[in-house]
Amino acid sequence: MLKDFIACDGTSIPAVGLGTWQSQPDDCYNAVRWALDEGYRHIDTAYAYGNESDVGRAIRDSGISREQIFVTTKLPSHIKDERGVEAHLIESLRNLRMDYVDMYLIHAPWPWAEIGKDCTEGNIIAWKTMLDLQLRGFIRCCGVSNFHPDEILSLIEATGYQPAVNQIRYFVGNTQPETTTFCQENGILVEAYSPLATGAILENGGLSQLAARYNVSVAQLCIAYCLHKGTLPLPKSVNQTRIRQNIEVDFQITDADIAYLDSLEGIGPYKRLRS
Ligand code: A2P
Repeated sequence: MLKDFIACDGTSIPAVGLGTWQSQPDDCYNAVRWALDEGYRHIDTAYAYGNESDVGRAIRDSGISREQIFVTTKLPSHIKDERGVEAHLIESLRNLRMDYVDMYLIHAPWPWAEIGKDCTEGNIIAWKTMLDLQLRGFIRCCGVSNFHPDEILSLIEATGYQPAVNQIRYFVGNTQPETTTFCQENGILVEAYSPLATGAILENGGLSQLAARYNVSVAQLCIAYCLHKGTLPLPKSVNQTRIRQNIEVDFQITDADIAYLDSLEGIGPYKRLRS
């Protein structure tokens, strides 16, 4: 049985979440239904994915009570003003047909169209607005995504409040050591999106051999690696068998094999990466 992660603010977060980036609406509905049937209690979506309403409908139709399911959604990356933050959260809640979200993340420190742009001021405004919306009961837990340490520090310096999580692109060979170490040393939970490198990692020969030794799939090996590293994996799948497989990851990897997996850092090339 996988243990929940406990965020620095005491929030309990189920260990493997279903990722829904690139899940088309109908596929997404089925994926969430299957995931909940298989025992997932954590679903990750975003306003930008265009599938919040399908996530919400699947949760309602599952018959599982809302309080038992941890739902994350995200503020679009180009929204950095107070009115925009509030309006987008309200729209996400309408899409989901929920009164609150368990986790609300700033999707990125800069608009996707302007990666790397300095949006410090806007991020601080967004962060303060989210903290206010949390006090008003619309959000249980606030966090960020794709943030570097200096971008997180500017939020903490401005408000005294640190994000509970930083959701980053994290998989074997791409563990963003500087950001991960900073977050983990400061009690910020790292969530791993694209833990399978959006599928590109699955054809790696070394990983296939190692997975065979554990009698698991490469996907299961990669998800277990994230857990071993103290990160919370969010594998995406719209296939029932694979959804089931991705939560059956309660096995230990030896220190020697972790060292081998660590040694793959930066080797690539993995295809189909987002940025
Ligand atoms: P599918 O949705 O058809 O299952 P990531 O989580 O890194 O974004 O990777 C998602 C990609 O990996 C998708 O293409 C997904 O395809 C595929 N995938 C997810 N789980 C598995 C699995 N257990 N085995 C093989 N492919 C998988």
